[in-house]
Formats: sequence, C-alpha cells, structure tokens
Amino acid sequence: MSGRVEGKVAFITGAARGQGRSHAVRLAQEGADIIAVDICEPVRNISYEFPTEADLAETARQVEALDRRIITHKVDIRDYDGLKAAVDDGVAQLGRLDIVAANAGLGSSPYRAWEMPEEVWQDMIDVNLTGQWQTCKAAIPHMIDGGNGVALPGFR
Ligand SMILES: NC(=O)c1ccc[n+]([C@@H]2O[C@H](COP(=O)([O-])OP(=O)(O)OC[C@H]3O[C@@H](n4cnc5c(N)ncnc54)[C@H](O)[C@@H]3O)[C@@H](O)[C@H]2O)c1
Repeated sequence: MSGRVEGKVAFITGAARGQGRSHAVRLAQEGADIIAVDICEPVRNISYEFPTEADLAETARQVEALDRRIITHKVDIRDYDGLKAAVDDGVAQLGRLDIVAANAGLGSSPYRAWEMPEEVWQDMIDVNLTGQWQTCKAAIPHMIDGGNGVALPGFR
C-alpha cells in the first residue's frame, strides 16, 4: 500500500526535535519529502535547552533512512526573509509544496504575568504569533501556484 501523502512535500518548522521531528518522520513514512527548519540555538530569557544543528541533522538522517528527501535550514521563524529563502529553496529542490506544519514555538514562560519583562512578552508574541503568520506567508504562494490551495476570486 502506498503512503497517504506519497509524492507530496511537507514544510515543518521547529523540526530539530520533539513534535516537529515526529511530524517529519511520520510524514516521510507516509511518502512525503520534507522541508525542515529550526532555530537550532537558544532564545534569550528561555531557561530550557534548545536543540543544535546536530539535532536537525539527526531529523534529516531519520527521514533519509526512510528513502525520502529532506532539505534543512537553520532559520528563525521571526526572520521572514530567511524563512522565505528556506521555503523557496526547498520548493526549488523538491518541486512542490502541499503541507505546512507551523510547529516551532516557545513553551510556557516561568514568569507571573505582572512580573514578566516586556522583552519576554515580545519574544513570545514574535515567535508564537508573528512567526506562525510568517510561516504561512512564506508557504501559501507555493501551494496556490502549484494548484494545491484555493485562491478566492478577487483575492489574487
Ligand atoms: N509538548 C506539549 O505539551 C505542548 C503543549 C502546547 C503547545 N506545544 C507547542 O507545540 C510545539 C512543539 O512542541 P514540542 O514539545 O515539540 O516543543 P520543543 O521545544 O521540543 O520543540 C520546539 C522546536 O521549535 C524550535 N523553535 C523555537 N523557536 C523557534 C524559532 N523562533 N524559529 C525556529 N524554530 C524555533 C525549537 O528549537 C524546537 O526545536 C511548540 O510550539 C510548543 O510550544 C507543545
């Protein structure tokens, strides 16, 4: 039986570990090629450990072990130009884009709301909100161009 996403390409943010890696490997098991990005370095004021480029490479190794292709980039989803360049490169190499998993994000802050420094709040908003929108902004034109999305009349 062929995979449920055979021949499709999935773009996954935060793919160096955790749920992002799991999405990459599961989609590869079902036949998809993968475009994977991760910041691969700490975000200021966040106390837990962040993955490294070696972790993103391990995700790539696991996908390639399934005979699927994967394009990886170390990029911060707050950096729209970097994110767009990563998606553009992945689509140029893999030929299309069908699936987006906007997974990268910061976990809960240790601060109580009234004690949280403004820059911690701003980083949360920049990653967990703006970063998700930028992920969609970088990806959606490829899906529409490939006939994999719906452009409402008058909106394109
Ligand atoms: N695990 C949970 O119980 C849970 C609950 C609620 C929400 N979430 C969210 O689901 C997502 C995945 O969870 P997880 O447990 O695998 O978390 P995780 O911390 O293990 O993985 C998140 C990944 O996102 C990456 N990342 C963070 N900021 C980034 C940025 N600015 N640019 C690019 N990459 C960035 C990290 O490096 C990491 O690899 C996260 O967004 C998390 O906040 C998880």
